[in-house]
Amino acid sequence: MEKLVIKGGKTLQGSLRISGSKNAALPVILASILVDGPILYKNVPRLRDINTTNKLLKILGCPAAFTNESGNDVCAEAKRLMPEAPYDLVKTMRASVLVLGPLLARLGQAKVALPGGCAIGARPVDLHLKALERMGAEFELDSGYIFGRCKELRGADINFDFPTVGGTENLLMAASLAKGRTILRNAAREPEVADLANFLVACGAKITGIGSDTLHIEGVQSLKGCEYSIMPDRIEAGTFMAAAAITGGELLLEQCPQEELSAVMAKMHDMGVAFSAKPEGLLVSGTEPIKAADIVTKPHPGFPTDMQAQLMALMCLAAGSSTVEETIFENRFMHVPELNRMGADIHLSGNKAVVRGGKKLAGAPVMASDLRASASLVLAGLAAKNETHVQRIYHLDRGYEHIEHKLNAVGAEISREKDPDAPA
Ligand code: UD1
Repeated sequence: MEKLVIKGGKTLQGSLRISGSKNAALPVILASILVDGPILYKNVPRLRDINTTNKLLKILGCPAAFTNESGNDVCAEAKRLMPEAPYDLVKTMRASVLVLGPLLARLGQAKVALPGGCAIGARPVDLHLKALERMGAEFELDSGYIFGRCKELRGADINFDFPTVGGTENLLMAASLAKGRTILRNAAREPEVADLANFLVACGAKITGIGSDTLHIEGVQSLKGCEYSIMPDRIEAGTFMAAAAITGGELLLEQCPQEELSAVMAKMHDMGVAFSAKPEGLLVSGTEPIKAADIVTKPHPGFPTDMQAQLMALMCLAAGSSTVEETIFENRFMHVPELNRMGADIHLSGNKAVVRGGKKLAGAPVMASDLRASASLVLAGLAAKNETHVQRIYHLDRGYEHIEHKLNAVGAEISREKDPDAPA
């Protein structure tokens, strides 16, 4: 296992290019199952989760791979499809459950390992299954697997109880090849859902209402391969905004998906961070003192749960008390005890955290517990005096492309080292 060793206290300055979005790339590449003919994906981030996706697709008879050692192109083509997504892969990446809709649409059957819980919560898939049942699928849960079957998928009028991101994506894919018209109401409006819909349309799907909470899908007979560029990663961009602010620095973010970050930028603006659009990208300036703020996580276009841990690190330095209320996941405060070990003063009560700011953070060995929690520890390490050792960074590698290289290029001092203290 590896750890990141961060020598804190450096002011970040310079330009960073935002990578392709992990959360968009996963469903879009998994959607290859639905398509006849080769697909070329551009701007795919080189991440552990993408390698897992490629492995899974290979097992399912739809080989997908980066076209060379270092670039960001992935090619994929469905060949002889197989219906089983094994536990070994699903357990390392919950998004694997997104093959359920495509496999049912193409094969009329699917056997997908039940993803189970993860560090941030139980994360059931009941809403995915309920919606697919409305389209004619039947499910059995046995020996840790979801067995799905259908004669055909038929269009249906579906109202989600909650605007689930993965559920909306699974249904969008299934409905694209179903018989007749599907309406998805109370659908997730996250930009990554729209990116998937845009990809499907580029392959010949008939979808309207993209970006809204009501999607209309007219099923088609087949989809055809195309070339598609994945949208930039709004969460990586938001994390770098926080990096500029927490170090009192200034970063120019190239290819920053500004529109998709309006809730994050509004909150950071309240906290004293300045933004200005330049021809080359978005300039983020964190040179003013940080102010306290209150955040409530909400489905898009509300404040994203994937950014609360990073802003909490920033709140530790703010003058005054801030609060974070987490309404999407039930256990998304794993970074709190670790931040407190670095000198933060955060109290938890149910789904609410109160952050008493104005603290000087000090480097310490800390443990990453999930992807975005890891990012908040890296941010805290950038601001802390002395060295911070972030252990278990495999979480970070699932979602941030070359994070230490990118941050070092703008003045950070981070090294990746073997971790002799890691549990075997
Ligand atoms: C996706 C993102 C994740 C982000 C989340 C919310 C990917 C790969 N992951 O996760 O980074 O934090 O959206 O923006 O894109 N739920 C149910 N039943 C279901 C489905 C969901 O109860 O069938 C609950 C979940 O447990 C959770 C909430 O709904 O509490 C949100 O889940 P969902 O929107 O589905 O998130 P994911 O697709 O898992």
